[in-house]
Amino acid sequence: MEVYSRAGGPQITIEMHVDNLFRLDGRVALITGGASGIGAATSGVFASAGAKVIIVDLDRERAEHLAMEIPGAEVRICDITDEQSVKQMFDGIRKLDILVNNAGIGLVGSIDETSRGDFEKLMRVNVEGTFLVTRSALPLLIESHGAIVNIGSVAGLVGVKRRFAYCATKGAVIAMTRQLAVITPGKSAPIAFALELWTRPSWKAISRSTISMKKKLSEPSWSRDSRSAG
Ligand SMILES: NC(=O)c1ccc[n+]([C@@H]2O[C@H](COP(=O)([O-])OP(=O)(O)OC[C@H]3O[C@@H](n4cnc5c(N)ncnc54)[C@H](O)[C@@H]3O)[C@@H](O)[C@H]2O)c1
Repeated sequence: MEVYSRAGGPQITIEMHVDNLFRLDGRVALITGGASGIGAATSGVFASAGAKVIIVDLDRERAEHLAMEIPGAEVRICDITDEQSVKQMFDGIRKLDILVNNAGIGLVGSIDETSRGDFEKLMRVNVEGTFLVTRSALPLLIESHGAIVNIGSVAGLVGVKRRFAYCATKGAVIAMTRQLAVITPGKSAPIAFALELWTRPSWKAISRSTISMKKKLSEPSWSRDSRSAG
C-alpha cells in the first residue's frame, strides 16, 4: 500500500495490485501531472515494473519529493500549456516509450455557473496541454513503437451533474485519442488509448485498465470544490 497526496487536497491511500502483471524493464515513461494523485501512483507502479520514469509537473516541491522515493526517476518542471516549455522539455529527452497524459484539472459547475475564463482554463490544461505534449512526444514514440495513455474520465462519455466544462474537456481527450489511432500511419505508429476513470460515492476509483487501483479519499471527489476531478 502506498500513500500519495493529491495536489492541494487531501491525502489519498492507494492500494495497487500489480505484482507480476507486467514488466517495463528498459522502457522510458513520461507522466504529466506525475507529482500527485493518479500520476504519482502511475509513476510508482511503472517504476516498480522496471521503467525509468520522467515526472512532469508544475509543482517542483512535490515532484522532487516523489522522485526521491522512486529509484532513477527524473523531474521536469513544465507547464504543459506553455508550448515553448513543452518543446524545451522534449529537447532534453532522447528516448521515450510511454507517454501518460495525466495532468488535468477539474471544475464544479453547470453551464450557467461556468465563466468563460474557467472554461478556457480547463480547455487549455486538459485539451491543449494534451495536444502540445503529444505532438512533441510523437517522433520519439514513433521511433520506439511506443504507447500513449490518455487519462480520460467517465465524464467524457456521459453527462455528469455540474461538470459542464470538465465533461467537455474529457470528451475531447477521448476524441483526440480515437483520432490519433486513425492518423498515425504505418506499423510504427504508437498505440493510443484512453482510460475512462470513474469515481463512485463509495470513494473507490476504478480504472478500466489492467491496473487495479483502489483509492480512499477523505471526502468524495464528486462533492469537492473546483479542484476536484472526476
Ligand atoms: N481523481 C479522480 O477521481 C479522477 C477521475 C477521473 C479522471 N481523473 C483524471 O485523472 C487525472 C489526474 O487526476 P488527479 O485526481 O490525480 O489530479 P491531481 O490534482 O491530484 O494531480 C494533477 C497533477 O497535474 C499537475 N498539473 C496541473 N496542471 C498542470 C499543468 N498545466 N502542467 C503540468 N502539470 C500540471 C498538478 O500539479 C498535479 O500534480 C486528471 O486528468 C483527471 O481529470 C481523475
